[in-house]
Amino acid sequence: MSERADGADRETPAGPVRALLLENVHPEVDVALQQFGEVEIHRLDGTPTREELHRRIADVELLGIRSRTQVDRQLLERAERLRAVGCFCIGTNQVDLEFAAERGVAVFNAPFANTRSVAELTLASVVMLMRGIPQKMQAIRRGRWLKSAAGAHEVRGKKLGSVGYGNIGSQLSVLASGHGMHVYYHDIEPKLAHGNARVVGSLEELLADVDVVTLHVPSNERTRGMIDAAALARMRSGAFLINHARGDLVDIDALVEALRSGHLAGAAVDVFPREPKSSDEGFESPLTEFDNVLLTPHIGGSTIEAQAAIGRDAAFKLARYHFEGATTHAVNFPQVEPGVRAPGSHRLLCLHRNAPGFLSRLNETVSGAGGNVVSQHLQTRGQLGYAVSDIEGRLDQQLLRRVRQLEGTVRARLLAP
Ligand code: NAI
Repeated sequence: MSERADGADRETPAGPVRALLLENVHPEVDVALQQFGEVEIHRLDGTPTREELHRRIADVELLGIRSRTQVDRQLLERAERLRAVGCFCIGTNQVDLEFAAERGVAVFNAPFANTRSVAELTLASVVMLMRGIPQKMQAIRRGRWLKSAAGAHEVRGKKLGSVGYGNIGSQLSVLASGHGMHVYYHDIEPKLAHGNARVVGSLEELLADVDVVTLHVPSNERTRGMIDAAALARMRSGAFLINHARGDLVDIDALVEALRSGHLAGAAVDVFPREPKSSDEGFESPLTEFDNVLLTPHIGGSTIEAQAAIGRDAAFKLARYHFEGATTHAVNFPQVEPGVRAPGSHRLLCLHRNAPGFLSRLNETVSGAGGNVVSQHLQTRGQLGYAVSDIEGRLDQQLLRRVRQLEGTVRARLLAP
């Protein structure tokens, strides 16, 4: 670890911490980043060139990006002082998470800040589908006036079935109940029902019993292809399917068949097995042939409000990590929630190799420097451990240097009282 002649080093530089924000992250980020202390914020509009980013990264402790900036090994190797990356979005594929962890760089994101936006679009889709709006809209554009109540229904009193009752499923449940719907859900974990929603024991039972099936589960081995031909056949004749979760949950060919045969009365689909990587790339899907299918380009969570919420959420996590050492919800670090620091105490943050004996070496070093550990939190994750120790006493100035020299230390930082 390089130390500078003025006493500042990559962990404790002179002056306020510096944050570099890219890709026009929401303006609320600036306020949220400063809620625990002073942060010097630098913004670069859009996505900078690789060269510019390589040049700027060496001077910053915090980096804020969205999905386009690649934080790869080369960038991280130049990021001498970088302490944490905030992904102001949902995914973190753009960051080399393992290498970042090895370099002692914590990565945070905001996976649930767009929950409300998805729930609202889903409820709106239920209303649109039950009124036959997609096909009526297509018809009117072609000059056909389908003024008829046939097949159009209120949502009040109808049955909505949510597959998954996590953040989105449960938020939707509240909105749908408010519209007078009877909400049923199936989840693999026990979930407390909101309002009058009712849990259903199996997916099969749920599919057979409701007017609208809506998916709100992650994509994994268990859920991929869960809505196949057999599942669709179990659904009520004339029911609707909504997929605003992940494109690979539904067998598209089977859905096409269920729509073509008229078994399903319509569908709303926001996510697809293959999605264009940018707006320049064309989109193709067999679902485009159906007038009664509401198609959207994976924008379930894309609203200005969600962007602001994402900004606040990820910035809060970054700021808490910087000023308090909390790694709660970090995606690549052991998660430690150290709580409130005792007044007047130092806080020692130490990322280290996960191997026997480190903690006793650390504690011996602290006591050797005149410190008394009054609170300690340790968590490990794979090859790494993260220890947060609150220390009282008159500390030897050399403590941090000695901790950094300990066998197994990856990175260490001391927060002054
Ligand atoms: P969450 O993690 O809060 O909830 C998911 C729920 O699904 C959990 O309660 C879990 O126990 C349950 N679950 C998992 N496997 C299951 C199974 N086999 N059967 C039944 N339940 C199961 O996730 P959240 O935030 O509610 O997101 C749900 C989905 O929505 C995710 O796929 C997410 O990627 C997607 N999403 C889509 C967006 C869009 O723009 N269209 C935006 C945000 C999220």
